[in-house]
Amino acid sequence: MRYLPKVAICDTGDVIGTKLPYLLEEYFSVIPFAEPPSLPAVLQKSSPDIILIGVPGDALAIAVTSAVLSECGTHSGSPRVIAMSPALVPDLVVKLMRMGVHDCVFLPVTPEQVVKRVQAALPAVLPTRSTPSRSEAGPLGTIVGLSEASVELRRVLQRYAVSDSPVLFLGESGTGKDLSARVVHELSYRSAGPFRAQNCGAIPDSLAESELFGSERGAYTDAVSRPGLFETADHGTLFLDEIGEMSLFAQAKLLRVLEESAVRRVGATRSRAVDVRIIAATNRDLAAEVQAGRFRNDLYHRLTVFVHRIKPLRERVEDIPLIAEHLLQTLYDTAVTRTRDRHAARRRYLSEEALRFLMKQSWPGNVREIMNVLERSIQHSDNVKLQASDIRLLP
Ligand SMILES: Nc1ncnc2c1ncn2[C@@H]1O[C@H](COP(=O)(O)OP(=O)(O)OP(=O)(O)O)[C@@H](O)[C@H]1O
Ligand SMILES: [Mg+2]
Repeated sequence: MRYLPKVAICDTGDVIGTKLPYLLEEYFSVIPFAEPPSLPAVLQKSSPDIILIGVPGDALAIAVTSAVLSECGTHSGSPRVIAMSPALVPDLVVKLMRMGVHDCVFLPVTPEQVVKRVQAALPAVLPTRSTPSRSEAGPLGTIVGLSEASVELRRVLQRYAVSDSPVLFLGESGTGKDLSARVVHELSYRSAGPFRAQNCGAIPDSLAESELFGSERGAYTDAVSRPGLFETADHGTLFLDEIGEMSLFAQAKLLRVLEESAVRRVGATRSRAVDVRIIAATNRDLAAEVQAGRFRNDLYHRLTVFVHRIKPLRERVEDIPLIAEHLLQTLYDTAVTRTRDRHAARRRYLSEEALRFLMKQSWPGNVREIMNVLERSIQHSDNVKLQASDIRLLP
């Protein structure tokens, strides 16, 4: 479940228009409201994280902003206010910021620019949220983040889901290759069928054939009759993880199945048709493996109909606040399930300083590493709101 920042939009003087709020719905949970008088109801009902106010560039801007700010309050749990105007002269910007506006944005503006400004405000906003996260449901909702890379990833996964061609995910350890493969499966018509994952590096040559294709009784000493991976994934998706580790021998076997859409169990005389979609992943540079002669060129071309490289977290630090928030919620949910006691488990939060500290790290282990660090930090500290000094980086 992906946490969507709640953004309330109040357009006074009709400067924002109707198109922008509509376009922002891809990124946020948008709460439109017409006039400042209806703000109290919006605050009570939806507790927005951010309020975007459209202000014309005159005395009205000051009046409206001051009305909104006084309605929101200035305690730590108050939403941040971002003023948007086509007529922001420096003088007005200074006045608005002094009044307590978090940021000022010149209009016109693209949805992407708004996303950036809201993202920049999140480290200040998220630590003040005591209400449970509102999340976007569905498989895509498991991919958290509003960076351009994450938005693009969700679009790409939707595209892959309506196709049946092989997909290859590239990316460092812990970037979400496994997660992405599952999302494609869940969004595809195969979601009613099985999702099978296999770590290709883990199959020794001697077992490759029987693992992939199964075996018939008596095919070799102690052989029992059993289906291989392809058969168990029939009408579903087979996720070939660490495909870069697959031996040349197993690659040759795999290529044949892909060409024939049929498998023959070891020791069987006839082959059986299988209907399996392949999604592969690796943290190696597969093209370089081909160059080096360690990966078959023909198999490479079969597997790379769709290729997507998932960016490491250090190239999308803007994602860290929402991902950390999401991981804390996940850790809490897990604790509740484990202890079956809603009170024994405590929902933890991160202070703004702690969030900024997390954003400064390089995270070679990416999302998985942040998850482990948060888990350790929670064990080491009793603070409900974790401070930077509570963060226990891995040794
Ligand atoms: N964008 C994201 N939003 C939320 N959770 C994420 C995101 N990316 C990764 N995760 C979580 O991080 C953990 C690691 O992700 P995953 O196992 O998919 O990585 P991977 O790329 O397959 O890593 P490896 O190469 O080590 O197998 C998982 O718990 C996953 O749910
Ligand atoms: Mg993985």
